[in-house]
Amino acid sequence: MKLKRTNTCGKLTKKSIKKKVVLSGWVSSSRDHGGIIFIDLRDRYGLTQVVFDPEHDKKTHKEAERLRREDVISVQGKVRARGKGLENPKLKTGEIEVLVDELEVLSKAETPPLEIDDRIEANEDLRLKYRYLDLRRPVMQKHLLMRNNAAQAAREYLNKNNFLEIETPILVRATPEGARDYIVPSRINPGKFYALPQSPQLYKQILMVSGCDRYYQMARCLRDEDLRQDRQPEHTQIDVEMSFVNAEDVIEMVEGLYKYMMKKVLNVDIKYEFPKISHKDAMDKYGCDKPDLRFGLELTDVTDIAKSSDFNVFNKAEKVKCINPEDKFSRNEIDDLIDFAISIGSKGMAWMRVTEKGLESNIAKFFNKDTQKKLIEKTKAKKGTILFFIADNEKNTNEILSKIRVEVGKRLKLINEKEFKFCWVVDFPLFEWDEDEKKWMPSHHIFTAPKKEHIQFLDKNPGRVYADLYDLVLNGLELGSGSIRETNPVTQEKMMKIIGLSHEEARKKFGFLMEAFKYGTPPHGGMGLGFDRIVALMCGYNDIREVIAFPKNKDAECPMDNSPSDVPEQQIKELNIKLDLVKKK
Ligand code: AMO
Ligand code: AMP
Repeated sequence: MKLKRTNTCGKLTKKSIKKKVVLSGWVSSSRDHGGIIFIDLRDRYGLTQVVFDPEHDKKTHKEAERLRREDVISVQGKVRARGKGLENPKLKTGEIEVLVDELEVLSKAETPPLEIDDRIEANEDLRLKYRYLDLRRPVMQKHLLMRNNAAQAAREYLNKNNFLEIETPILVRATPEGARDYIVPSRINPGKFYALPQSPQLYKQILMVSGCDRYYQMARCLRDEDLRQDRQPEHTQIDVEMSFVNAEDVIEMVEGLYKYMMKKVLNVDIKYEFPKISHKDAMDKYGCDKPDLRFGLELTDVTDIAKSSDFNVFNKAEKVKCINPEDKFSRNEIDDLIDFAISIGSKGMAWMRVTEKGLESNIAKFFNKDTQKKLIEKTKAKKGTILFFIADNEKNTNEILSKIRVEVGKRLKLINEKEFKFCWVVDFPLFEWDEDEKKWMPSHHIFTAPKKEHIQFLDKNPGRVYADLYDLVLNGLELGSGSIRETNPVTQEKMMKIIGLSHEEARKKFGFLMEAFKYGTPPHGGMGLGFDRIVALMCGYNDIREVIAFPKNKDAECPMDNSPSDVPEQQIKELNIKLDLVKKK
C-alpha cells in the first residue's frame, strides 16, 4: 500500500476545498462524461466523487479507464467544489469532488453476482451466499452500525447500574428451555455429548448463588427450532439476572435499559411508563400475549349472545369473538379477508354489516332482532361498521382473530409504523395445558416462581397458579421474557411433579443447580431480552436476518460456508460416532 488514507469517503465537505487528500474504497460506479471519468468511491462512511481528467493527468486517466465496479483503490488528489448545478444534496460529500493525480489499484474485482445497491435486492439465498457483498450495501452497513450502537448502549447502561459482564460456557449440559438442543460429541469422553446453550439460564442463576449480585451477558443462544422471520437457530440475548429483587425491580431496570437504548440509538424519547397488561386481558382484548398497542380494534367476546342465535357454526363453538373495524369494506375486500382467515387456518369467517335496519349479511337471518340488538350493544359497533366473527375453540379463536386484527390494522392503515409502543405482559399462569401431550407444561421454564399467594393451589389446581413472570412486548413482538426464580426445594418438587418430571430426571438435567441452592441462595430473578429483535425493530424490520451479519436461511443452512456439512470419516470415527441412520443423498 503506497498511498495512505487521510480521510474516509463520508468526510469531506466544502471546508476541505484545496486540501490534498488520499481516499480508499470500492469503485461504486464509473461514468465517462466527455472523456472525463467520474467515479463514486465508496466505503463504510459514505461516497465521494473522484475525477480523472486527462487534461490534469494523462497517466491516471488511462489507468482509470481499466477500473471496474468493486475494484479496491486508493486515490490521491485535491478537493475542489463541484461545478455549478452539479452538487448532490443527498450526499454529505455532495458539494465537493476530488481531482485525482495518483491512483493505486489495491485489488481487482470480478463482476459481482449481486448489485451493491440499496434499491435492488437479490433473492435470499444469493444474498446469504455472497453475504460480504450484501453487507457492502449502505443499508446493511447501517444495520450493523445500529446493532453496534444498541449493544454499546446496553453495556453502558448495565455497567452504570453495577452489572458484571460474565461469559458462561458454550459447551454445556443441556438447558431445559423448551426447544431442541444442538449437541456436540466429546472426543475425550466417548459416547458423551455436550449441548450448546439454549440460554445461560442455569449458569446465571448459579452466578447469583456465587454472590455476583448483578450479571449480564450479550449471550449467544442456540436452539434447534423451526425457523421464522423472528427466529434463528442462533440468536443473541441481553441476558440479565439480579439478586435480592422482586419482579417490580427487574421490570424497572429493564424499562430503564430500553429507554436508554432508544435514546442513544434512535434519539427517541420514550416518556411514558410501559403499560402493564395482565395475560388474561391481553388474551381477551387482543387474542395473544404480545399485543400490538399501536392501534385499537379490540376483540369482543360474544360467545353468550351467539349461543342464542340459530347459526350452527356459532352456537356449537366454544368461543365466538369479533372485531368491528370502522370501514365500509367492499364485497371483494371482505372475500379477500375471508381468504386470509382461511390461509391462517380458520374454517371460515362470518361477517355482518351494522346498518340503520340492524345487521345485514348472508347469515343475518339466523339472528333475531333481540340478538342483533345485543350484538350491537356489546360490540359498541357504530352504523356503517362491520363485524368480523371467528368461532372455534378458545385457543384457535384467539389465535386466528388476533392475526386478523393485525391484518385489518395493516389494511386500514391504522398502524403508525414510526411509533414504538412498549408494554409489559404480566400475571401469566405458571403452567399451560398441552392438549397434544395431555399434560401441564411450564409457561416459561421450570425455574419460574409461582406467586407466593398461589402456592397453596399447586397441589389441587395447577391451572389457578399464577407466576412471577413478565414479558416485554414492542409493537406486537415479544422482546423478552423473565421471571423471579423458585429456589425453595419443596415448591420446586411440587412443580416438577405437576409437569411429570421425576426427581431422578430433574437431578440428571439440572441437579447441579439444585445442589448449588443448598448452600445459601439469594432470592433472584432476571430476564432474557431478544437482542436481534429489538435491533430489527429499531431498523424498521420484523425480519431479524436483516440485522444479523451471518444468519442462516430457512433450512438452517449457511449458503456462504455451506454449513452444515459432511465431516471426514476419520473425524467421525474419532468421535466414536457411526452414521448408520443417515441416508446417502
Ligand atoms: P426465552 O426463551 O423466552 O427466555 O427467550 C428470551 C427472548 O429471546 C428471544 N428469542 C429469540 N430470538 C431470535 N431467535 C430465536 N430462536 C429466539 N428465541 C428466543 C425472544 C425471547 O423473548 N432464559 C430465559 C430468560 C430468563 O428467564 O431470564 C429465556 O431464554 O425475544
Ligand atoms: P358454511 O357453514 O361453511 O357454509 O359457512 C357459513 C358462514 O359461516 C360463512 O360465511 C363462513 O365464512 C362462516 N364460518 C364458517 N366457519 C366459521 C368459523 N369457524 N368462524 C366464523 N365463521 C365461520
